[in-house]
Amino acid sequence: MKIIVAGTGYVGLVTAVCLSEVGHTVTCVDVNKEKIDMLSSGISPIFEPGLEELMKKNKYLLTFTLDSKNAYKNADVIFIGVGTPEKKDGSANLKYVYEVANEIAENIENNVIVVIKSTVPIGTNKKIERYIKSKLKNNVRVEVVSNPEFLSQGTAVRDTLHAQRIVLGVNSKQAENIMREVYDGFEIPYVITNRESAEMIKYASNDFLALKISYINEIANLCEIVGADVTDVAKGMGMDSRIGNKFLNAGIGYGGSCFPKDTKALHWLGNFYDYELKTIKAAIEINANQKLKLIKKARKYYETFENLTVAVLGLTFKPNTDDLREAPSLYNIPILLDDGANIKAYDPVGEKNFRKFYPNEIQYCKSLEETLKDADICFIFTEWEYVKNMDISLFSKLMNRPIVIDGRNCFELNKVKKENIVYESIGRSIINNINNN
Ligand code: UGA
Repeated sequence: MKIIVAGTGYVGLVTAVCLSEVGHTVTCVDVNKEKIDMLSSGISPIFEPGLEELMKKNKYLLTFTLDSKNAYKNADVIFIGVGTPEKKDGSANLKYVYEVANEIAENIENNVIVVIKSTVPIGTNKKIERYIKSKLKNNVRVEVVSNPEFLSQGTAVRDTLHAQRIVLGVNSKQAENIMREVYDGFEIPYVITNRESAEMIKYASNDFLALKISYINEIANLCEIVGADVTDVAKGMGMDSRIGNKFLNAGIGYGGSCFPKDTKALHWLGNFYDYELKTIKAAIEINANQKLKLIKKARKYYETFENLTVAVLGLTFKPNTDDLREAPSLYNIPILLDDGANIKAYDPVGEKNFRKFYPNEIQYCKSLEETLKDADICFIFTEWEYVKNMDISLFSKLMNRPIVIDGRNCFELNKVKKENIVYESIGRSIINNINNN
């Protein structure tokens, strides 16, 4: 079976590598020469634990090329895993999906199954099938299958090889059988449905998780007012298997390339059909406010951050990724800079990408110690292991004024209580063991 994957971002590349892991020969196509060159020499352009190792292990089964013409020519199955970024109005931009569809139509010479892995609005699979058919150069059979992706960055390889379900939105038994052949090596249960339902499963899942986070964040905000502890509240809720204990970590809101975009896209689609999704709207609004919570908390201690030394731990939108898309750091650091703060940041994985936005405006540090030294306040934006496991006495030992504003609840309060610091987190009581505030 000749499998092609269009797009070598998180979805495309991880899909291709995992398909090679179960024995398929896969050709990856991209328009970005730099990426193809890196991939051809065995280097992953994205930071994703375990991915490069699998690429190396299966290098004889994987090919990377810019030559889409030849790749599509005799393909049996073509996965589309290109981006569907957010447009200014919140809707999904399908430009890249259509570009690939166009190339497929122009170049295929065999019957082919086109599998859309990218997150696309409900109705897109059908439209893409119609579009390809309208542009075909040969008399071949094309069917478009919806096969949404549920991998998370940082655990993408495991999430794909050991997914909880494979969702297939198909229009014929023939397409279903071919897809079952593709996924033969994976022992994962299937959900077989029509294409609209498969597309909806993806949005409904992501938006439900985003809503769950916004819900616990709102509860956390009330916990702060009434003296409850959101960590205990989430634990107590999560032990009810109907609720589940996942995605109940309160914090400074969800970021990344998916939840922010997918909540807005579904909300937009609802409005398009004159049906406002009020729960999704609430999730979006709560998240926008949550992202700026830390600055609000910090303003109690400093009216302005002008000339203050501000330590920042974590820049990425979550740990185990170098991705900065919709990261809280990108919302908060401009405010601090605008105020005139001197920022020292530490994130060995995220630094390279952050430098693209701020090459000289902030100081990038090489250790926790260097970052905290003489700081007047410290913000935690990402719960990296090195932060969660750090020696918390470093705050009082190194900082000029040990005020720590933690957006990810990295430390247990009973440990912090022993320290001579001010510690504010999300949905928990404030610890203030210094009296000069
Ligand atoms: C998300 C989904 O979890 C995947 O299932 C989906 O396939 C993917 O989007 C996608 O559509 O491609 P991802 O964005 O990589 O994956 O990361 P998550 O682990 O879901 O985290 C998203 C955001 O939510 C992060 O900013 C994280 O810090 C935040 N979060 C997560 C919380 O604030 N609290 C939680 O309890 C969990």
